[in-house]
Amino acid sequence: MSTAAVFSEALRTDTLGVVIIVATEDGISFVEKRLQPFVGKDTVSNIIEACDDLSYGKIKSFNVVSVNGKFIEIVIAGAGKRGSLNRASVEKLSGHICDSIKSKNACIGIYNDLETGVELAAAYLASGLLLKSWNFNKYKSKPEPEKISAIECQTCYLERNEEEFATLESVMDGVFLVRDMVTEPANVMTPDQILDIAMSLKKFGVKVSVLDQRDMEKAGMNAILGVGRGSDNPTYLISMEYCTDKAKDKIAFVGKGLTFDSGGLCLKPSNKMGEMKGDMTGAAVVIGILSVIASQKTKANVIGVIGVTENMISGKAQRPGDVVISASKKTIEVDNTDAEGRLVLADALWYTHERYSPKIMIDLATLTGAIHVALGHEFAGLFANADDLAEELKKSGHLVGEKLWRLPLHPSFADDIKSDIADIKNVGSGRGAGSTTAAMFLKEFVPDSVKWAHIDIAATEWDSKNRALSKKGATGFGVRLLHNFVVHYYANNP
Ligand code: BES
Ligand code: MG
Ligand code: ZN
Repeated sequence: MSTAAVFSEALRTDTLGVVIIVATEDGISFVEKRLQPFVGKDTVSNIIEACDDLSYGKIKSFNVVSVNGKFIEIVIAGAGKRGSLNRASVEKLSGHICDSIKSKNACIGIYNDLETGVELAAAYLASGLLLKSWNFNKYKSKPEPEKISAIECQTCYLERNEEEFATLESVMDGVFLVRDMVTEPANVMTPDQILDIAMSLKKFGVKVSVLDQRDMEKAGMNAILGVGRGSDNPTYLISMEYCTDKAKDKIAFVGKGLTFDSGGLCLKPSNKMGEMKGDMTGAAVVIGILSVIASQKTKANVIGVIGVTENMISGKAQRPGDVVISASKKTIEVDNTDAEGRLVLADALWYTHERYSPKIMIDLATLTGAIHVALGHEFAGLFANADDLAEELKKSGHLVGEKLWRLPLHPSFADDIKSDIADIKNVGSGRGAGSTTAAMFLKEFVPDSVKWAHIDIAATEWDSKNRALSKKGATGFGVRLLHNFVVHYYANNP
């Protein structure tokens, strides 16, 4: 559970170690009024004088002595033009504010004058601060102190903000679960460990079932099994079902769960190979979104299917040039053992359709390095066989700052994955567009009757730099976007 935030019409001023005042460009009198209970007149004037610029993102921090003789930190955050903000920009702003806070383990009080434009600003500010302050200390003998011990937020719209924050808190727990899973090393976050975490969703009423190697052999799932052959860890296809009304549409999420991707015999260079512990992010996001939806008892029919395995080398590992017969019976020439994610998803997508016949299928995968070249770290790649689905996903993401950019999924790329000896091969013919040829490969395993989208999160799941709502490291990208998507979908299709 993340740190709690409380909302009230008037804050308990004597307990705060940090006072944050978020003000729009014409809000300097708001700043002045809020400062008065904390510091003497002279300090108020000095701070006001120093805050000549309240444009969006201008943040100043002051260490001062309070009227009670305590050292406190005052942070004044410029929010720009009144009326120009929305949820994503308020959350992003609080991420910047979090970076400016120097105190450790502080009880933080937040005042904001944004409520006329964004009624839920208090909830968004609190959740932004908490998203940004997450860290992973588990293996440090001397963990860094947490930044925030508690948050108190002033608002006039008490109930609405409390209610919204309760939802945001649960979504944050989903995001933190993903960040934890992705940050754990591959010797800990093994396929068995992922299975345990998936099983733990039973406590929220999720039905969890698993196919092990023998079950998959019987079902002819040689595409996923081939990937796992070189590893001593097991391969699993795990299904999670949460349905509140069988008569309604089903949405299925399918995730790539490579607990480690060495590249197989097409071994990756050692530089950055360690980052491939995060190659299970798609699966983690699927577990994350199911845990949020089920713990919130959202009215929805959501299925999660994750293909979990490890791409390693041994005498049993599959070779470049091998041909496998997938569960769909399509034959695949494994031209490159490092293009393993699409092999896992081929069987997972096929199985998801066969078993559940969902109306919509959305897969998430750290599928290609090429998506980083195309889009960088801010946008994930979106591929879809239905325009309305693509638009809805884009909208859901933009609302929370998890942005998607649609790339082509066009028949003109189909020739790239033709094989000389099998139906298709698992890499393109080296004519560029690596993320699209990967998506074209997946499309072979999705019937045209299903609305399907593929989200390539290879470059958004992890960042070597500080981001708006996460520090260097795992971002948890996808949970907030998909939560919006599911909630809107069932609100609009009751
Ligand atoms: N897991 C990788 C993709 C990846 C790269 C994720 C960088 C995160 C950061 C995937 O399995 C892979 O190796 N893809 C290859 C495909 C190629 C062999 C066609 C790639 O992108 O190089
Ligand atoms: Mg690979
Ligand atoms: Zn991979």
